Amino acid sequence: MKQISLKGRAYPSDLNHSGTVFGGWIMAKMDKAASIAVEDIVNSGAVTVSVSNLHFLKPIKNGDIVTIYTEIIAIGNSSIKINVSVMVRCKESHEEYEVTNAVFTFVTLDDAGKPINVRRVIREDISEDIKLLL
Ligand SMILES: CC(C)(COP(=O)(O)OP(=O)(O)OC[C@H]1O[C@@H](n2cnc3c(N)ncnc32)[C@H](O)[C@@H]1OP(=O)(O)O)[C@@H](O)C(=O)NCCC(=O)NCCS
Repeated sequence: MKQISLKGRAYPSDLNHSGTVFGGWIMAKMDKAASIAVEDIVNSGAVTVSVSNLHFLKPIKNGDIVTIYTEIIAIGNSSIKINVSVMVRCKESHEEYEVTNAVFTFVTLDDAGKPINVRRVIREDISEDIKLLL
């Protein structure tokens, strides 16, 4: 199930010399949003192991309100894949359009920092759509 994991606004300090937001700014926010989505379903620590299919579709401008949606799409042994989609709200129509998307993979870790099976650390209050991925 797609959910909002992070929301914020782009400020002048987030812009590059062309006047649009730095790719690295939005990638860091996407990573944080994905980590929140993972923390919503497990009780352990987890780290990013890979980012794939990263697409910058449209620029983000100064003052834009940015909403980051996440959706857990696959659960492996110790890995969790998350679709991350960044949307900007149009100032005039208030409709959202997609500006960036990517697939993040996280790995759940035990206290020693070693990969641990997701099923051993899954939270009890997960939704039905997450249970279907287990
Ligand atoms: C994440 C980490 C602990 C994995 O260690 P590892 O020895 O590669 O572990 P494994 O080979 O057992 O792989 C663990 C899982 O990650 C997956 N994986 C490893 N490398 C991957 C990659 N490049 N892309 C996608 N998945 C990957 C494996 O397929 C495996 O998934 P599964 O358990 O669901 O089958 C280690 O690579 C690491 O510490 N990386 C640095 C993480 C980091 O600092 N991130 C940035 C800050 S959060």
